[in-house]
Amino acid sequence: MAEFDATSGRRVLVTGGAGYIGSHTCLELLQAGHHVTVLDNLCNSSLESLKRVESLAGRSLTFMQGDIRDFELLRRVLVGPNNECPAFDAVVHFAGLKAVGESVSQPLAYFDNNLSGTVCLLRAMTEAGVKTLVFSSSATVYGDPASVPISEDFPRSATNPYGRSKLVIEDMLADLYRSDPAWRIARLRYFNPVGAHVSGLIGEDPSGAPNNLMPYVSQVAIGRREYLQVFGGDYPTPDGTGVRDYIHVADLASGHLAAIRALWQADSQTGCLLTVNLGTGVGVSVLDLVKAFERASGRPVPYRIVARRAGDVAACYANPVLAQTLLGWRTQRNLADMCADAWRWQSRNPHGYRQAAATGGA
Ligand code: NAD
Ligand code: UFG
Repeated sequence: MAEFDATSGRRVLVTGGAGYIGSHTCLELLQAGHHVTVLDNLCNSSLESLKRVESLAGRSLTFMQGDIRDFELLRRVLVGPNNECPAFDAVVHFAGLKAVGESVSQPLAYFDNNLSGTVCLLRAMTEAGVKTLVFSSSATVYGDPASVPISEDFPRSATNPYGRSKLVIEDMLADLYRSDPAWRIARLRYFNPVGAHVSGLIGEDPSGAPNNLMPYVSQVAIGRREYLQVFGGDYPTPDGTGVRDYIHVADLASGHLAAIRALWQADSQTGCLLTVNLGTGVGVSVLDLVKAFERASGRPVPYRIVARRAGDVAACYANPVLAQTLLGWRTQRNLADMCADAWRWQSRNPHGYRQAAATGGA
């Protein structure tokens, strides 16, 4: 009997595919020969990202503007126009709100969007018989870890509503798998995604002042902001600043491909529930990143050390070995690549996708 070919030609629904990580993953999926449908309500993204994905891939995808909380829409999409049921071989689920601070001031918006939205998606998938799912979890589920590097069996906790939404969804998925072992589920815990596609055509496009370090540093280097505030210089780390595991978004995208392949290869009777860290295993301090960015961009990044940011932990980096063992995946790009690619994206698109949308070009 011919071996099942999981390497191309499968149909994948990507929720939140117009966003930062989703757009890079759509590109990987198209380049691997899969048929991609994106469902996104564009609440934190623009269609321009997907136009650029298509031009990079030289192939088109299907876009549907819609909300994952719209059960009827999801059911229709998942069973297909002719009720061919199931119309997809897998779902990659990125759609969600992700700003930690906003989740503290608007917890219900986060529970509604992330939790109700995911319940709605899972109900529609169940009805359509699509039981292969890759879910975007986060290193945030480790809370303040007792030690580093962090392995998947470390205790989990939530320190804010965003983190709680990830934790509850992880548990929902485990319950679902226990109830029906036909499910094949990967819970991917991302560490700190940064960087952009090497072409400089797609990248991270935060609206307003960035919350995260790399986009903030990029905007200082390009002159949109005067200086970086380094949150805390007195952590118990080698230089006193916070240490994180920055992972290139293109490596993260290839991690999703590896996870989908692993799910497709799993037994469809007994299913599987995979939980893996996607990180490099390398701890990088805020000042390490600033210096690497200055080297990559040739621009100064002025900074001032200020008080710690509430809720931050001193150090958070992955033990990445399980992903290597279970998915045969490891990161390929280093901090210099992350900074060079973030800078290329920032310098070619100083106002992100908005400028291109306004002028009709990159
Ligand atoms: P993003 O905001 O760029 O992408 C999310 C996409 O989902 C956006 O295009 C948005 O328009 C869409 N969306 C949101 N709510 C929706 C809804 N109800 N219906 C349809 N579409 C909706 O974020 P990202 O950085 O690409 O993150 C993707 C996923 O990865 C999120 O679930 C996020 O929580 C998770 N994650 C991100 C990070 C990070 O640092 N970027 C870290 C860990 C986990
Ligand atoms: N930092 C600064 N100045 C800034 C922004 C950040 O010094 O302007 C520091 C932070 O204090 C921290 C490090 O840079 O030490 C990284 O901060 P980010 O905000 O970039 O990332 P976090 O580690 O706080 O959190 C990110 C996402 C979370 C996700 C987590 C793990 O925002 O949603 O990574 O994946 F859960």
